[in-house]
Amino acid sequence: MKTTAQNLFDLSVTVNGTRYEQAVEPRTLLSDFLRHELGLTGTHVGCEHGVCGACTVLLNGESVRSCLMFAVQAHGREITTVEGLGTIEKLHPIQEAFHEAHGLQCGFCTPGILTTVVPFLEQNPHPSEEEIREAISGNVCRCTGYQHIVDAIKLASDRMNK
Ligand code: FES
Ligand code: FES
Repeated sequence: MKTTAQNLFDLSVTVNGTRYEQAVEPRTLLSDFLRHELGLTGTHVGCEHGVCGACTVLLNGESVRSCLMFAVQAHGREITTVEGLGTIEKLHPIQEAFHEAHGLQCGFCTPGILTTVVPFLEQNPHPSEEEIREAISGNVCRCTGYQHIVDAIKLASDRMNK
């Protein structure tokens, strides 16, 4: 492991298209690095042990639980958080669909669901309702009852794959 005299790791990681070079403690969780070191608080932390899905981000395009990874495991790789999906001026089509179909209430679970759904729709552009429910089965939402989330994902898939 590439550590400095203070036992810090010289981490190099690209987050939302920006390259960061930063010394971190090897025990730093990826979720804490994103939130506390980079200020990307859109990645939420609920259970902290891989159950709720709120902390999901994309690692080289694949969904991962950032509370189950150390930041050093992202060394040399690309991370996308919810902040990197779209902008206020130009939302990602999935964000737009969630907005229009009322796919959220408090929004705590939403970043994790969006970062779960992006690769899911890439791999399965025309999912059935059952497949959508299976895809988000690892994301806990306390508010919506899931129906509007499912509707939003269906709307996004219809629009993105006309
Ligand atoms: S905070 Fe990571 S899965 Fe719940
Ligand atoms: S919208 Fe509140 S937890 Fe899902």
